[in-house]
Amino acid sequence: MSMNVVTQLTSAEGLVNPYPIYRALREQNPVVWVDEGQSGEGWWLVTQYDLADAILKDPRVWKDASRMGFQNEDSFFGNSMLFQDPPKHTRLRSLVNRAFTPRLISRLEPRIIAIVDGLMDHIGEQKDVDFMSAFAMPLPVTVIAEVLGIPVEDRQQFREWSRLIIGTDDEPVEESIKATKQLGGYFDELIRRRRKAPGEDLLSDLTALQEAGDRLSQQELLGMCVLLLVAGHETTVNLLGNGLYALLQNPGQLGRLRQDPALIESAVEEMLRYDAPVQWGTFRFAGESISIGGCDIGPGQTVVVALSAANRDPAQFADPDTFDVSRSPNRHLSFGMGIHFCLGAPLARLEARVSWSRLLPRFGQIDLNGTPRRRPNVAFRGFDSLPTRFFAG
Ligand code: HEM
Repeated sequence: MSMNVVTQLTSAEGLVNPYPIYRALREQNPVVWVDEGQSGEGWWLVTQYDLADAILKDPRVWKDASRMGFQNEDSFFGNSMLFQDPPKHTRLRSLVNRAFTPRLISRLEPRIIAIVDGLMDHIGEQKDVDFMSAFAMPLPVTVIAEVLGIPVEDRQQFREWSRLIIGTDDEPVEESIKATKQLGGYFDELIRRRRKAPGEDLLSDLTALQEAGDRLSQQELLGMCVLLLVAGHETTVNLLGNGLYALLQNPGQLGRLRQDPALIESAVEEMLRYDAPVQWGTFRFAGESISIGGCDIGPGQTVVVALSAANRDPAQFADPDTFDVSRSPNRHLSFGMGIHFCLGAPLARLEARVSWSRLLPRFGQIDLNGTPRRRPNVAFRGFDSLPTRFFAG
């Protein structure tokens, strides 16, 4: 079965609303071969919830491309935990796991409140704002930069590199590789400085760890920094933007949330499910022949899990196309599943919860004020701009 799914998803219509395309796939071809048109190359796309969940948990499905004989374009990002299998994945993840437990992350709450309040003061003065540049973009980058211990003055440069690394569907991949190298060089220098003069931050902790034993090579440390920065902010930006858009498109749900702030926690989960910031998991490889959904995935073949499609599967979610801020249970796959389940989920959730619990009481009315512009990227779904009008009170 071959199908030009990517052409459909990258079309103007698909960019605005990919969900009917995913529905058709889920119903007709839940495991579909996406043909790249050259010499039989391609990959499998999985759209049903139970199959997606099974693939994400299957130890026969690998992440490490080098086991498939592929070369990583750069030596460090590709070596980060996201692209490794056990035991290397286990070792790398355990080094930072402790810094991201819900308990430790909750200590950041006062600082996140202060950053959110500062951004809201600025919005209050302007009224007409692009929500993305005024709020959704600066919040996560400021938070992750503080966690890592990155100087304030470097953050703008930082954001540009991060955007280039994620890229868009029509930007050449070389741009992304170049930015990854530049960001790696930046971290290399910063690590040198932290080694001489440690601070109270994750980067200093990791550097100290490196000094103490030999459990973390320089390449691995660089890969970890780049991963934390990119994974830790492009995604949360889009949770905030997609979340606001969902609220504005569903004023009844926005009203419920305003009336009952106890719903904020479940509303954040619903924002994650309904319009997932990360629509696809990263590339995976079948370590051996795997039979799933009536298809045989051959050894070495690539599999992509469409998290966003699984999130709209009626077999798992009642009325999946309805945005319901009180939805429960809500076992969405937006943070992935299995051993690569998002490390930063507690941080992303906290940033989103604080944002809505401060923004909604402060601004009694929020309206769309123009046409939002979606970022042309099939895997990372978000807005380049979201023009809005905020009214106090
Ligand atoms: C709304 C925000 C976020 C979303 C939707 C998201 C989504 C995801 C997803 C889907 C994965 C798994 C990818 C796969 O298995 O192919 C993942 C992994 C990861 N995320 Fe997040 N993420 C978010 C925020 C964050 C934050 C704030 C951080 C860190 C500060 C972070 C760090 C990571 C890391 C390190 C991994 C790799 C974990 C591993 O390989 O074991 N993420 N994320």
